[in-house]
Formats: sequence, structure tokens, C-alpha cells
Amino acid sequence: MAWSLPAEGLSLLLSALQQAQLGLRAVLHILGLAPDIHGQPAWPFAYRIAGEMLALDAGHARRVAICIACLLLAGLSLLVSLAWRRGRPGLWVLAAAALLLAPWPEPHLLLAPAVPTSLHASPTGFTAQGIVRGQAVYQQQCVRCHGADGRGEGVDAAKLPMWPPTLTGSLLWKRLDGELFWRVRHGMRARDGSSTMPGFGPPLSDVQVWEVLNYLQANAAGQMLKESGGWSYPVRMPDAAVLCRHQAPRTLHSLGGQRLRLLTDTAPLQEDPRLVSVYTAVNATDPECQASAPELPDLRRALSLVLGVQPAQLAGHQLLVDRDGWLRARGQPGQAGWSASDLVCRSTATPLTLASTTPAGDGLDGLIRRMDDEPVRLLRGGFPH
Ligand code: HEC
Repeated sequence: MAWSLPAEGLSLLLSALQQAQLGLRAVLHILGLAPDIHGQPAWPFAYRIAGEMLALDAGHARRVAICIACLLLAGLSLLVSLAWRRGRPGLWVLAAAALLLAPWPEPHLLLAPAVPTSLHASPTGFTAQGIVRGQAVYQQQCVRCHGADGRGEGVDAAKLPMWPPTLTGSLLWKRLDGELFWRVRHGMRARDGSSTMPGFGPPLSDVQVWEVLNYLQANAAGQMLKESGGWSYPVRMPDAAVLCRHQAPRTLHSLGGQRLRLLTDTAPLQEDPRLVSVYTAVNATDPECQASAPELPDLRRALSLVLGVQPAQLAGHQLLVDRDGWLRARGQPGQAGWSASDLVCRSTATPLTLASTTPAGDGLDGLIRRMDDEPVRLLRGGFPH
């Protein structure tokens, strides 16, 4: 059987399962069975649904989808049989058949070990200030093992019973945020129970741990770009306060729904109706939008992190942000116009060629079409975020 769920079906299935888990947690919370831990209701079970396996294994996803359909059919039959007496025997047979014939998935594929914060969402957002504060925590607490660039080559790494993993690639995107949080907060152990990474409790606060995770993600984005020239995993735009012409102060994220162009140079560029220009440098002329002065240094630090350049080399870079707030394309200093190779967010498998109908000119139309036509779907531990 070669049939597999289409991408939209899979993402629907994953969101439905995630919503079901969150709903269950909310109900248990009301009943007092999921008390707050680290500021959000705890997941009280030792297992959660393994969204990552559904995203990876098409056959498994198909079985789960059919199984859910069978369960719904069985439930519906039983419900109708309550009201429809004469149809009852037939409906019961139908319900039993649906349950018997359902292709039950293997439990070890369906479930993954959980921790109390598995379903926690980061309360800090992805702000430039948080990323920069997280960097300071990283340099104080983590660098000795994980190394300055996050590749696991800190000065103490060789003395550890286990080499620290590379935190610059896929690992961070495969895990659930709440599970990374738990591991940093409470430490990690080997199978034999011996400690592999120490936990970081007080004096670090919960917020500091979330912020160091934000920093790790920004750093990983920059390292990926340096290594492969692209982002195999999507990166969000760091948030910061901005001032836009004739408007009250607002945040970059609140500009969502529009395409943005983040500029790191002071030189004013001609305004472009296709995007909102946001200057992250002090700009004398009347800019469309500009990062607010107190947050400007942190925003520039965060942008240099995601671009993988030193802050001193940031000037002249540009970043294009799609309507959903994902960083999609990078312009490098001195570059004239845009081309397909600037599309660094490669979350889809489609090769990096722009349609031959791309009008000549600055190449921006083609890039924008790609950004709009291929929205990013971030799967975290298999679940959409
Ligand atoms: C004493 C050395 C040491 C220090 C300090 C340290 N780590 Fe680790 N870290 C490790 C080792 C070793 C592992 C692999 C552990 C394992 O897989 O059992 C690890 C694993 C991780 C992982 C991967 C978790 C996963 O899901 O696989 C993350 C994320 C992480 N560390 C973040 C941090 C952060 C953030 C800090 C600072 C607050 C930090 N570490 C400090 C040694 C260290």
C-alpha cells in the first residue's frame, strides 16, 4: 500500500493530536490533577504522543489516521445506537468491526517518554533582548562544555564521561521546547543513572533557561548559515520594539502579516511597496520603520548571531521576512539585487531555482513569490508550532 497522507493531512493530524494533548492537560489542570510546574500546567503522564515519529514514518502516520477514523466511526455508531433502538444490533456490529479492523499502531512508535514540562511553551517569545541575555548565561554556564560556537568543544568537554552534542544543527529543531527546558533545568542522565549533564536550578531563573535556549537557536542558525550557506530549519525573526512613521511604538512581531526587509545599514534605500523597510541602524532621514534606540544594540547583536557574522561585520546585510515572521532571504554587503541563492530558508525540498518566468530586474519578485507560495511549516518534535 503506497498511499500516504498528503502534507496538509499530516499537519492537520499533528495539530489535532497536539490540541487533544493540550486539551487533556487543561481538563486535568481544572480537576487539580495537573498542578502548575515552572509556571504552566504539568503534563502528568510518563509518555506523550510522539509527533516526531508521525512526521518521519509515513506508514505509521497512515495507520494512526485510519485508526482515528475507525475510532470516530465506532464512537458515532454507539452514539446513534443510543437513540435508534431498531438499528442497534447493526450499529454495534459496525462499531465492533471498526475497532477490530483498525490498524492499531505500535505503542513504541505512538508514544515517547515525557517530562512534566513536555508541553510547555516558551513564555519569553523570541526577543532580541532575551537572546542577548541568553548569550550571557551561555557564556557563564555552558561554554566550558559546549564550546564558544556550540559545537561541543569546550575546555572541559574532554574530561566528561560523554562528549556534549553539537548544538548547532538539527538537534534543537527536533526536540520539543519544553523537553529542552527540562533537560537544562534538571540535568541529564545516562541509562545507568549517572549524570551526563548537570542541571541548572537556582540562581538561574526559569526565564533565564528559556532565554539561553533562544540564544542556542539564534546561534545554531548562524552556524548553519556559515557551514552550508542555508537554513535547513526555519528561523524566526528576533523581536524588538520599533517606531514606524506616524504610529505609536510597536514590536516587530506586531508587523506580522506584512513582508519586512530588515536593513542593517544607515544608507536609506528607496521604499518598496512590496515590503516594509525596517532600519536597524540609526538613520537620519524619515524611515518607514526603525528599531527603537534602546533596543537597537541588542537587535543588531541578535541579527549578527542568526547571520553568523561578527557584530562589526553586520552592516550591509539585509534580511527578508515573510508574512508569518520567518526569516527567508539574506542579502550580503555589496550585493546588487536579489537572486534565488539568497533564499536561505530552505524548509521545502523544492530545488532553489526560480521560475523562468521571473521578470528581469532586481530578482525580488521571484523571491517574494517563493516566500508567499511556500509558507514555512515548523514542526517541533513533529508538532506544528
Ligand atoms: C559539565 C558539562 C556541561 C555543562 C556545564 C552544560 N552541558 Fe549541556 N550537555 C552536556 C552533555 C555531556 C550533554 C549530553 C548529555 C546526554 O545526552 O546525556 C549535554 C546536552 C545538552 C543539550 C541537549 C539536550 C538533548 O535534548 O539532547 C542541551 C540543549 C544542552 N546540553 C544545553 C546546555 C545549556 C543551555 C547549558 C548551560 C546552561 C549546558 N548545557 C551546560 C554537558 C554540559
